[in-house]
Amino acid sequence: HDERTFVMVKPDGVNRGLIGEIVSRFEDRGLQLVGAKFIQIDEELAHEHYGEHADKPFFDGLVEFITSDPVFAMVWEGADATRQVRAMVGETDPAESAPGTIRGDFGLDLGHNVIHASDHEDEGANVREIDLFFDDEELVDWTRSG
Ligand code: CMP
Repeated sequence: HDERTFVMVKPDGVNRGLIGEIVSRFEDRGLQLVGAKFIQIDEELAHEHYGEHADKPFFDGLVEFITSDPVFAMVWEGADATRQVRAMVGETDPAESAPGTIRGDFGLDLGHNVIHASDHEDEGANVREIDLFFDDEELVDWTRSG
């Protein structure tokens, strides 16, 4: 199958009712959904997912935020999916994100940037993050015809 990438609407995006808008953008782009779950992240999963930031001054706040309310986690498939999705998401800082990107259109600030997507410059990040959030049998092998 084509490349798969991990995407998650964060608690701020969920609270602001942006799940549908965000799913629509990836569908409209022609990406194929192969997995999705609505969950509340616990401390352990937050520490695993954001382990690379454990030494950062914003780490405790980041863990508190990401565990504060549910997230909508997804796996999207397509040619060069990780890079495509990152281009649609924008920069980490919404202020640096172009209008038309998800963070450029909806992000408020660095900590409240609506969405997470696997980093295309971090080799294997997509596979690691998919494995962390999804079991193999939660991902569907199918081919989108439309
Ligand atoms: P994300 O790409 O999901 O991964 C790490 C997150 O840390 C990032 O989005 C931001 O939301 C958050 N982050 C990065 N830098 C800061 C910062 N200086 N202050 C608060 N949060 C940050």
